[in-house]
Amino acid sequence: MDEPAIRTVAMPRDTNPAGDIFGGWLMSQMDLAAGVVAARHAHGRCATVCVDAIEFQRPVHVGDEVSLYASLTAVGRASMRIRVLACRRLRTGEEYEQVTAAVFVFVALDEAGRPRPVPPLASRPGSRGGSGRRAAND
Ligand SMILES: CC(C)(COP(=O)(O)OP(=O)(O)OC[C@H]1O[C@@H](n2cnc3c(N)ncnc32)[C@H](O)[C@@H]1OP(=O)(O)O)[C@@H](O)C(=O)NCCC(=O)NCCS
Repeated sequence: MDEPAIRTVAMPRDTNPAGDIFGGWLMSQMDLAAGVVAARHAHGRCATVCVDAIEFQRPVHVGDEVSLYASLTAVGRASMRIRVLACRRLRTGEEYEQVTAAVFVFVALDEAGRPRPVPPLASRPGSRGGSGRRAAND
């Protein structure tokens, strides 16, 4: 697996009233991870426009190390489709377990906050999974 876009630790402040890690915290980490990939590809300001098919598969517990893996899967004119996987690792263990997956769509913005074109998928060295421009919302 590639390096994670973000790696963090789930803390007591990230829990819901029942004491489990709050799904909204995990979603915000996933959004941050997708944003790292989007800004890098677009070389500038981007905004989340859509989150699709988020699935909470396993719980995250306080103290878990959480790794967010994000990969660009498609690019439109101004939009980028980014698949994000979240994995937990017990802080004292070696095993990684996938806990959540989702697809984020980001749009590159100009100074006025309007959509601006982004480079095609294959143009960045090290970018994966494509040979050219595809609609990000296909
Ligand atoms: C991002 C934003 C400027 C797009 O404006 P817009 O009028 O929808 O712009 P467009 O219709 O030209 O769409 C731009 C691109 O976004 C895509 N897009 C827009 N809404 C989408 C959606 N719901 N799902 C998937 N893609 C979407 C379009 O398909 C288009 O893709 P392309 O350029 O690759 O063909 C506007 O929606 C916005 O400002 N949203 C708020 C973003 C934000 O604040 N996010 C953080 C939330 S706190």
